[in-house]
Formats: sequence, structure tokens, C-alpha cells
Amino acid sequence: MKVFISRKIPEAGLQILRNAGIDISEWTTKRDLTPQELTEFCREADALLSAGGNRLDRAFLESVRHLKVISLHSVGFDNVDVAAATSLKIPVGNTPGVLSDATADIAFLLMLATSRKAFHMHDTIQQGGWGFFEPTANLGIDLRGKTLGVFGLGKIGFALAKRAYSAFDMNIIYHNRGFHPAAEKQLQARWVSFQDLLENSDVLSVHTALTPETRGRFNKEVFHRMKRNAIFINAARGAIHNEEDLTEALKKGIIWGAGLDVTNPEPMRRDHPLLTMANVCILPHIGSATEETRAAMSTLAAKNVVAGLQGERLPFVVNPEVYD
Ligand code: DGY
Repeated sequence: MKVFISRKIPEAGLQILRNAGIDISEWTTKRDLTPQELTEFCREADALLSAGGNRLDRAFLESVRHLKVISLHSVGFDNVDVAAATSLKIPVGNTPGVLSDATADIAFLLMLATSRKAFHMHDTIQQGGWGFFEPTANLGIDLRGKTLGVFGLGKIGFALAKRAYSAFDMNIIYHNRGFHPAAEKQLQARWVSFQDLLENSDVLSVHTALTPETRGRFNKEVFHRMKRNAIFINAARGAIHNEEDLTEALKKGIIWGAGLDVTNPEPMRRDHPLLTMANVCILPHIGSATEETRAAMSTLAAKNVVAGLQGERLPFVVNPEVYD
């Protein structure tokens, strides 16, 4: 049995594959595979371990319908046409849970860094701008006692809310399709309507999956309904916000600041106006980028490959209907 791995992954996962006697073929060149190359490599494999955002659409899936498993090295699966994979009877696996803390840390970091203009201050020093002390200059916003609104309170949103509640006594409100009893009990979190989330959040952090319903959800009209001192955080998927509308909202002071670990598109162009704004902090999609978390992700992804190639149910499956 052979697995094709579309980008270099941590050793922990490779070891599991080797121990299971699976042949490994890896793409290690530092550029994205073209769709044609990916198809070619998959033709010679029994499984695909997909690390990175290769688009696995219906056309691609039909051309590799012999695959016994597609294992994603991510929790998100918005790059895959899951319905098509199911109809072709290809199980798709992901890596839930193990990256919640690391990703929540990044959202927390962005919230704090944005509220104190930290990235801008760092740039200012580099540009020789650390001048004389002025009591009215470089002022940020306190987080203590403010309201954190979480859009999509799942594992990552909960982990962020827990940090905000413990570190800054923040009030937690959230908007989800369902209720989150643990958050309500442990963090006194309150479910609110989307409108109330916008109107009452001092920090609004996005932790939902990218779906047709959430794509472009944070647009001009939505930013206008937020508080003028609000900070917008997105560590989920860049396509959930409209980047032009966000830039405009920040320029015009419709909202106060933004912290992004994800942009639309990625990578962000180096001359993007958001990169020069004082109240904006941007990171290059590093939510899960710690040694421990990436090792754990590669472990789950490898376990999914092994199970799929052994004809067993994937331990972390995105499309369980495939087994019906
Ligand atoms: C995920 O797992 O979906 C992350 O965005 C990748 O770092």
C-alpha cells in the first residue's frame, strides 16, 4: 500500500505510516502542487495525505476514485467537496481537537496584541520612531471586564473564551446554531442573536467553519452594526470576512481594530494596506503551528491513513455517511 503526502509533515506521523508498512511518497518541493501533478501522484497511490489547501473538488475526486482514503492534515475541510467524496465512497479524515489550544492561543495573542497596537509599535522601533515619551501617544484599549463575542463557539472558541474569562474577567457572549452548556456553566457565557453579538462585542472573534452560510458573512453591512471601539479577530478562515470591506471599516473608524491569522486570499500581498495600519495585527495562518500540535496533527492524519488502508473506519472521519 502506498500513500502520497502532498507536503512535508512531522516525523511523528511518518513513523506511524512506516510502522504500518506503508510506502511513503512525499512532495517536498516548496511550492504548491498543480492540480495535474496532484492527480498524477495520486494515480500511483492508494491513499492521499493532504497537507495544505489543495482544492479537492469533484473533478479531482472523480479522477482519483480508486483512493481508499483521503486524510487531511487539518481540522478544516472546506477545500474538499465532501459530498462528492461520499458519493464516490471515499472516506475523508481530519484532525479535530488537537489544535484547539494552539489556535485559541493565537486568537488570544491577536486580541491582546491588537488592543495594544503591539505589531505597529515593534515596526515603529525598527523604523527609528521610538521618540520622546508622550502621555497621550500609543494608547491602546483595556480588555479587562470587556465583552468577548464568539461567533462559532466550538472547541477553539471555547478555549479562547476560557482564556479571556480567566485572564481578563471578560464577559462571554456567543452566537451558535445550538447552545453550549459547558460554556454557560463554567464561563457564564450567554447565547445571543447575531445582531446582539455585533452590537455588544468589544472583541468579536470568529471560530466557525467556512461554509456557504459563513462565506463573506463579515461584510460592510455587518461591520457597520458593530461597536466603533470593537476589535475583529479571525483565526478561522479568511473567506469568512470580506477583506476590502474590513479595510474600509478600519480606515473609516467604523470599527477600532483587527487581528487576523487568516486572510483572503492567502498569502496576503506584502503591500496590502492592512499591514500598515496601527490597530491591525496580521499573522500568516500559524494557528496550529507549534511543535506539539503539528506532531499531534500528523499522528491523527497518519492514523486515518492506516485505518483507511486497512479497510477500517477512520477514527476521525468527516463523512461518516460513507459507511452507511
Ligand atoms: C486547520 O487545521 O484547519 C488549520 O487552519 C490549519 O492550520
